[in-house]
Amino acid sequence: MVIGKPLFTVEQIQRKVQELADRITRDYEGKELVMVCILKGAFMFFSDLVRHIRVPLKVDFVSCSSYVRSDSSGDIKLHHDLREQIRDKHVILVEDIADSGLTLNFLREHLLQREPASLKICVLLDKRERRLVDVNLDYVGFPIPNEFVVGYGLDYSNMFRNLPYIAVFKKST
Ligand code: IMP
Ligand code: MG
Repeated sequence: MVIGKPLFTVEQIQRKVQELADRITRDYEGKELVMVCILKGAFMFFSDLVRHIRVPLKVDFVSCSSYVRSDSSGDIKLHHDLREQIRDKHVILVEDIADSGLTLNFLREHLLQREPASLKICVLLDKRERRLVDVNLDYVGFPIPNEFVVGYGLDYSNMFRNLPYIAVFKKST
């Protein structure tokens, strides 16, 4: 297994997170937010992001896993649901990476059933080439090419989440 050199360094990530947090602060001035983290991948991004947002907010967590089938549909299982009431609240769903789009699409539909006042999606990375379903991303950190990346919360087999930077991961053969 080989971890390549950083695709995004600690400094680049921190600058981008600050930029996203500033945009969110401006967009929600005078409002309250419920920030929803998709575990586990988004945990590091989420904790950095919320500490830079300057509007009152609550945090909550959801956890799900996806199994992409060959017919381009996905089976998504929800392991942990929201604890907060989000009816009539402004909600931002935070994810590490948009890949097929199936997870975000599923969670978006799931949260919309609770009738929030608004629902936006924030992702650190966007692997557009891999999209199977259309999903509107309101805040995007970095678009990336079709490579498997690890670090800053992103994993391979639940490993490498603790790297402070993001790197391309290749299985040695
Ligand atoms: P989806 O295909 O958009 O539903 O993404 C499902 C999940 O796959 C994401 O939440 C990530 O946890 C994971 N994932 C997708 N691409 C990568 C990657 O390059 N590295 C690590 N995890 C990834
Ligand atoms: Mg993951």
